[in-house]
Amino acid sequence: MRPVNPFSPSFGISPPVLAGRREVLRSFDSVFDNVRSPSHATLLWGLRGTGKTVLLNALEDRARAEGWLVVSAAAVGREGLIDQIRSKASALLDSVRSMQEAPSRRAVTGVSVMGTGIQFERASAAERAEAEEADLETVLETLGEWLIEQGTGLLVTIDELHVSATDEIREFGSVFQLASRRAERPVAFVGAALPELEDRLTAGDASTFLQRCRRHEISNLRPSEAAIALREPIEEAGGRIDDDALEIAVEASMGQPYLVQMIGSYLWDDAEDLARGATADEARRAVADAAAQFGRHVHGPVWNRLSDLDKRFLVAMLADAGTSAIADVGRRWGHSPRSLSTYRKRLLSAGMISSVGRGRAAFADPTIRQYVETRAAAEGFGPDG
Ligand SMILES: Nc1ncnc2c1ncn2[C@@H]1O[C@H](COP(=O)(O)OP(=O)(O)OP(=O)(O)O)[C@@H](O)[C@H]1O
Ligand SMILES: [Mg+2]
Repeated sequence: MRPVNPFSPSFGISPPVLAGRREVLRSFDSVFDNVRSPSHATLLWGLRGTGKTVLLNALEDRARAEGWLVVSAAAVGREGLIDQIRSKASALLDSVRSMQEAPSRRAVTGVSVMGTGIQFERASAAERAEAEEADLETVLETLGEWLIEQGTGLLVTIDELHVSATDEIREFGSVFQLASRRAERPVAFVGAALPELEDRLTAGDASTFLQRCRRHEISNLRPSEAAIALREPIEEAGGRIDDDALEIAVEASMGQPYLVQMIGSYLWDDAEDLARGATADEARRAVADAAAQFGRHVHGPVWNRLSDLDKRFLVAMLADAGTSAIADVGRRWGHSPRSLSTYRKRLLSAGMISSVGRGRAAFADPTIRQYVETRAAAEGFGPDG
């Protein structure tokens, strides 16, 4: 029987082989032995599905392997981030404290003369209450001081940082700065965000904290990395992939990590004899199946949030085989040219198009063009809007 499919075509699920990303991993490793390392505050940014969450997870694993504690948060709305981190960090502080206590040791924390006499309570319960009320800065300071004594550290990660309001990010930044950086406590931060956060940073709506973070752009894998991500899991399970099949799969994946996992997964399921080797024909079939799914899963959610005018902008680009002149798009678009640059910016930060020189734009990758073609036909957008 064939072993369980090792590929992970799901958001946030770690791949069997995390390909590439060496620079980020290496630069992050410096935080473990240098409290002044600039990587103590790191920001990963990139388009949907490029692998930010699984990289965050890998960094958390590395921190744990070094004996560090981890608070892992994800922004779910404009507000509430600080509360989420505070409550996770104080739960950690609480468990650190109760671990230090011998289980049977009890402290007299209050004497009641009403009826029952002396009241015993675990000391940690009182401390717990105290920790629950403490603000994030106090919690991080207390944890930080304890960690210095222990010779370890704390990593705070925040996924989907772009979802938070700038004020909230700014507040977290200043708390982190005070509790960690300024006092050289071993508390590190890694955030992950979509490029729209970068736009906010450059648009003056910025938080200096984020501007000072060490920033890594997480982009698609190189062909050699995509090949590793596909081949190694197959070989580790005792299978093979023919060279031409691998080439077809790698090229079609464009290095897009999610697509790499999807192609790998289809190939695994559909190859007739993995031990003999997946063939070129099987790779072609896996690529076709994966491409259809990919559009639905990755571009679908973005497309559904676009306005009619956003969509018309994209449809107007279809007339050009390669890149488009924005002025031409404007003519086909049939809407006031004055708002053209606003829509161009919106589509840039949604990751649907990329800027290719002054006054020009292109689909951010060929699967987006394909997806727009299909949707435009299904939703009845004519070629001239
Ligand atoms: N370095 C990598 N090598 C191989 N596969 C990867 C790599 N990074 C990510 N993947 C795979 O790509 C997919 C997307 O990864 P992940 O969920 O981390 O993306 P993301 O950038 O967080 O996306 P989103 O912005 O939508 O949250 C997952 O299936 C994951 O297993
Ligand atoms: Mg993610």
